[in-house]
Amino acid sequence: MCGIIGILAKRPVVPLLMDALKRLEYRGYDSAGIATFEKGHLVRFRAEGKLVHLEEKLNNYSLDGKTGIGHTRWATHGAPIERNAHPHMSKQLAVVHNGIIENFAELRAELKKKGYVFNTDTDTEVVVHLVTDALVKGKTLIEAMQDSLPRLQGAFALALIFEGQEDLLIAARQGPPLVIGYGKGEMYIGSDAIALAPFTDRISYLEDGDWAVLTHKSATIYYSMGSKQVKREQTKSSRSAFLVSKGDHRYFMYKEILEQPEVVFHTLAHYLDFASGKVRLQKDSIDWSSVSCLVFACCGTAYYSTLVAKYWFENLAGLSVSNDVASEFRYRDPPLSVYQTLALFVSQSGETADTLACLRYCKRKGVQSGVVVNVSESTMAREANIVFPILAGPEIGVASTKAFTSQLAALASLALMAGKARGTISKKQERSFVMALAETPRYINQALKLEPSIEAVSRELIAAKSVLYLGRGTSYPIALEGALKLKELSYLHAEGYAAGELKHGPIALIDETMPVIVVAPYDRWFEKTVSNTQEVAARGGRIIFITDKKGAAAISVKTLATIVISEVPEIIAPIVYTICVQLIAYHTAVLLGTDVDQPRNLAKSVTVE
Ligand code: F6R
Repeated sequence: MCGIIGILAKRPVVPLLMDALKRLEYRGYDSAGIATFEKGHLVRFRAEGKLVHLEEKLNNYSLDGKTGIGHTRWATHGAPIERNAHPHMSKQLAVVHNGIIENFAELRAELKKKGYVFNTDTDTEVVVHLVTDALVKGKTLIEAMQDSLPRLQGAFALALIFEGQEDLLIAARQGPPLVIGYGKGEMYIGSDAIALAPFTDRISYLEDGDWAVLTHKSATIYYSMGSKQVKREQTKSSRSAFLVSKGDHRYFMYKEILEQPEVVFHTLAHYLDFASGKVRLQKDSIDWSSVSCLVFACCGTAYYSTLVAKYWFENLAGLSVSNDVASEFRYRDPPLSVYQTLALFVSQSGETADTLACLRYCKRKGVQSGVVVNVSESTMAREANIVFPILAGPEIGVASTKAFTSQLAALASLALMAGKARGTISKKQERSFVMALAETPRYINQALKLEPSIEAVSRELIAAKSVLYLGRGTSYPIALEGALKLKELSYLHAEGYAAGELKHGPIALIDETMPVIVVAPYDRWFEKTVSNTQEVAARGGRIIFITDKKGAAAISVKTLATIVISEVPEIIAPIVYTICVQLIAYHTAVLLGTDVDQPRNLAKSVTVE
């Protein structure tokens, strides 16, 4: 999603803006731009594509302005071309925007009637003309903002600078997050604390409806888009600068894949006490014995983590579980009982617009609502009744890897916690599950060692038109995740299917050119999965079978490749098998030369619906 940076500096601001924009790259973008001052006047530079193109342009100038705003754009309204890149400007001001102004068409028509000329296809340009219109009518800057902001509908984060006002930056938040950073004689505004990490760790988050007037030395915050001041607590950000380095690796995503043994251990150790073989009691947590129904609503990879969790919560805790994609749940107006229902929202970023809307919906309905979230300072973490941390650390690769496996680790632990509280697992079972989970990092390490044979499988995929992933039980969501990762990273078409659904349609696709990746640990679903694999073999499909030693010995069909993983306890199989599907997608992308860390059209933090 778009990234915003704004800086009131004591030094030339352009290198600082570019540094911050690089740190926002992980959010996904397709053009970029900055605005600053040159000899007291506003100037702006924009470029299509990656930041290097903007850098090339800037190399031709020596700019010494000390105040500026910058933006990475993820196109919503209008093609990703330079004309639509932010900042957008008039003679009076420059603005950058993240989100969607929903009533832009109506405002555009009104402003056009007044004679304003629109040069872009964006919704953002209405902000330029709306504020400009107030200023040319003689309003002060503050009055112009107070008149304009309440007229904007939708979700937006804005940063504005004004002609002739080098000691001023205005920011507003209604939806997508904005954080203020406090430096020594410098002030910052950014889409997240990562962007500000090299400058300051003293931050405060704007709440929805807040807008702020920043100078080099102060920040005055107003709430409800009005004129009443409010104080927002300053905190120390934990997202230190070094954590977002790639180290020696070519891609963040690859580094994040390799980090998983350590990261997953960290998550598990938060919830489980390996020494005693017990789940840790969480302070101010849920009374699981009073819950009978669990409702999940999330997006993308996070949604798949909840499809796995469904099996765990049903089997270990005897809970009835419903799973939804958040964009459907939020508009269905689902009837929810406030008694015995727990709504859980899983999110890496904690900012995904649809998931956040579901959390707010459930809270409004009085349903106990928790989040399983990675970014501890995110909006979801701040708004939920209960927060279960994922603790994966900053995830920079746009495609989720370590956050997914850590989500699974956290959800498995919570299912055990629920089973224990509800008396559906015995002490002995608790211990055996905790000890099985303790083995996860070791098995992930072993799966990572299979990389050479996985890379060989990727070579088989690069010429494919389409790839099918199959699995049953907890391997079904891993098949979905594998297909999603392949689509995202390599732009190859891929579908994940419950293996038993094959004959209800997708079998029509199978011929000698179709790779079919089967995720099949030797578990209670294995025999059935093999039968479905036989249906593929009978039609000449090119089978890539991911299994363990017992599975490899038992499979009776000819495969193109068999990837043999260590035998793992059933509860951790989805985490360990995920490593293989991640590596398949990663290597296919590398072989095809796509942008692994920032796949086209994707955004890391999806703050629009
Ligand atoms: C896929 C991916 C996305 C996210 C989805 C939800 O690799 O990363 O599908 O999982 O956009 O994002 P969060 O978890 O931030 O709510």
